[in-house]
Amino acid sequence: MAENFKLDLTQRPRRLRRTPALRALVEETVLRPADFIAPLFVVDGKSKPEEIKSMPGVFRLNIADLVKECRAIYKLGVPAVALFPKLDPKLKDDEGTQALNEETLVLRAVRAVKKAVPELVVITDVALDPYTSHGHDGVLNTARDDVENDRTVGILAKMAVMQARAGVDLVAPSDMMDGRVGAIRQALDSAGCAGTGIMAYSAKYNSAYYGPFREAVGSAQAAGTKLLSKATYQMNPANRREAVLEAHLDAIEGADILMVKPAGAYLDIIREVRNTTQKPVAAYQVSGEYSQIHAAARLGWLDLARTRHESLVAIKRAGADMILTYFAKEMAALFKG
Ligand code: PBG
Repeated sequence: MAENFKLDLTQRPRRLRRTPALRALVEETVLRPADFIAPLFVVDGKSKPEEIKSMPGVFRLNIADLVKECRAIYKLGVPAVALFPKLDPKLKDDEGTQALNEETLVLRAVRAVKKAVPELVVITDVALDPYTSHGHDGVLNTARDDVENDRTVGILAKMAVMQARAGVDLVAPSDMMDGRVGAIRQALDSAGCAGTGIMAYSAKYNSAYYGPFREAVGSAQAAGTKLLSKATYQMNPANRREAVLEAHLDAIEGADILMVKPAGAYLDIIREVRNTTQKPVAAYQVSGEYSQIHAAARLGWLDLARTRHESLVAIKRAGADMILTYFAKEMAALFKG
């Protein structure tokens, strides 16, 4: 009976999966080097690249090495980098004053990269966490045990203008304060930087997946805890409608690109934002997403190359036009192979 069982089917979707060539013809989502933005960590001094323990293959680079890395990345076809400074803890204070120093690390890094590889799109974070001794993204009102929204926004707007003057193509407010995109747009325009764009971290969740990044820039250590709570400004992972609201506000305040972060656990949010805006959507595959793939691969439990590809193709399929990922360089290198 079972041997000659026959279905009378008109529809057999497997027909188009029969050979590699047929599968290639009907493939809906294809990754390319230009999809990626490489986040890079920069440190002061002349030290050798230091690997971040929880992020195998990711290093903190001094400015000279950063410039070399940017050249290599651009040569592989990756159009953009996002720079994150790791400050000497001695330079941090409650107010994050180093953020407004013309000679602060990230501004020197931007100038060096732009001089060496002017075609490369350079993006910088606008937030105070690398600069504050408590690791929060803004200045605190200690009486209320909260960040001070408006005073923080005033500082961020100045920071954005300094970054624009140093030559960045896009400033990326990652702080989640209310009204910061509008204030930054206005400050940039009045400073004669109308050509500098804003990539807004629009739906940025209060996520456990940022743990390794906080090790990389020392923002959790600054707070003396791995469990720094940013819940009064970053979004609750339980919320979806609120992401649409945040994206909408950023768009009308003048954001050029809307970002969802993290990416892998928030594919529904990427799709939701994609469906409600005509602006480009970015997604940030964050440090913890990278680390968990590496950790499982080290244990021999997951195949690194396949999991890496699947994680990124899923983010693009969900609707991201561009992906910030620590895999950017190695993904692009596959195309040169
Ligand atoms: C902070 C910032 C964070 C990341 C980018 N900018 C972490 C945080 O909010 O504490 C996370 C990136 C990552 O985990 O890869 N403004």
